[in-house]
Amino acid sequence: MTAADKPPTRDERRAPANLSPEEFRVAGHRLVDAVARFLESLPERPVTRAETATEIRTLLGDGGLPDHGTPADALLDETARLLFDHSLHNGHPRFLGYITSSAAPLGALADLLAAGINANLGKWDLSPIASEIEAQTVRWIAEFIGYPGGHGIMSSGGNMANFIAFMAARTARADWPIRTQGLRGGPRLTVYGSRETHTWIEKAADVTGLGTDAIRWIDTDAQQRLRPDALEARLAADRAAGDVPFIVVGTAGNVSTGAVDPLAALADICARHELWFHVDGAYGAPAAALPDAPADLAALARADSVALDPHKWLYSPIEAGCTLVRDPKTLAAAFDFQPPYYRLADAEAEPGLNYYALGMQNTRGFRALKVWLGLRHVGRSGYIDMIGQDIELARRLYRLADTHDELEAIAQNLSITNLRFVPRGLSPDDAAQADYLNELNTALLERLQKSGEAFVSNAIIDSRYTLRACVVNFRTTAADIDALLEIIVRIGRALDAERRPDSAR
Ligand SMILES: Cc1ncc(COP(=O)(O)O)c(C=O)c1O
Repeated sequence: MTAADKPPTRDERRAPANLSPEEFRVAGHRLVDAVARFLESLPERPVTRAETATEIRTLLGDGGLPDHGTPADALLDETARLLFDHSLHNGHPRFLGYITSSAAPLGALADLLAAGINANLGKWDLSPIASEIEAQTVRWIAEFIGYPGGHGIMSSGGNMANFIAFMAARTARADWPIRTQGLRGGPRLTVYGSRETHTWIEKAADVTGLGTDAIRWIDTDAQQRLRPDALEARLAADRAAGDVPFIVVGTAGNVSTGAVDPLAALADICARHELWFHVDGAYGAPAAALPDAPADLAALARADSVALDPHKWLYSPIEAGCTLVRDPKTLAAAFDFQPPYYRLADAEAEPGLNYYALGMQNTRGFRALKVWLGLRHVGRSGYIDMIGQDIELARRLYRLADTHDELEAIAQNLSITNLRFVPRGLSPDDAAQADYLNELNTALLERLQKSGEAFVSNAIIDSRYTLRACVVNFRTTAADIDALLEIIVRIGRALDAERRPDSAR
């Protein structure tokens, strides 16, 4: 009879989910080795294999829920292989799509450590050191970007960070008890942001019951920045119609081109009209730390709230978002309820941060750890260097495209560059060729993404379909940027030749 066959003694418990310390150690070391080899191999791998959903589902098979378990080490080996070979690798040096960064390897170890402790940061006494680490992380993020006060909360990402600010603004600016009476208690609350505002604003207006019609989409200028004069005009018209404007959203780095709204002018307007000024800096806020940050970006310091994504330009592994607020009372005012099961009267004897009362979540994970460790590992100067280098690489891409006779460089802001392929002999300004160029660049992007050689995404600027590269990737080098241009031109030429075989080039 083996030890496992013997019945457990009174002080033993056999739990299939448990691993013995030795099993954990062995499986953990093997996994760390495998992840290290994977990270090392990234440049040699395709960015993606562009497999179809059917191909991926076939890999998983359609067997039902297993009745019995599988040993952990075999399971981890198999799963690691599956993920390494069938993922899209946003940590690849030539991944420049959307606004998704390479993740700092230390963050993976931080997540292991956080899960090992499994702190619940909903309530301070369930996570004393972890809650204080979150508070310090939030203070350091605020300090890094020059935002006063250092108050706020971490969340899953940009959408959630913006929602939290939006709800704080709604409660602070409604002049009736909106948390108890809801929207029936008052006039129509209206929301202001540019046409380039990320789609979180629609979800926020929807889930808070305002409805998306409450959003006033303000026109932008030729650089895709919100026009303050158009904002003023719309505010006046809405007030005259009996609406109650309550929040203006300025974006610090929009998703299409990285343009930064004129935040200083928006802050002035909000001060004059007593509106909540929110800055969506999910992408661009960390660039405010650069010594040469433009004044408009630095003006995020005047906002009532700022949303920022450590999982974008602080290179944390997904997920990590952060809301900063000027007045810490506004978060509790928007989210706090005091159920009897939390024994808050006792907790008040030892004041602490009960984060469940400052945001949407109740049980909360220790996502602050990877950000905190990143900030300590790299320091202010390390982030400034990496962000500055990302911007310089995006500028290199723009410059090279601008001097290439088959490329049109279209926009460059922060670390985003927009460009498109224009075959020799065609003119970017000829309206008769506009549809062809849009179709050609759409096909180009699709082929490029599927090639696995590199990955960029798209943006539409003034009806032009552009290829959009966003460098939030500390693995990208100047050679990768040069290679990207070569790939774009090669694919562009091939597609044009397929479409216009007889044209002279
Ligand atoms: C400006 C901006 N706001 C909000 C978001 C949403 O952030 P997340 O995807 O982390 O929820 C993004 C994402 O790219 C963004 O660029």
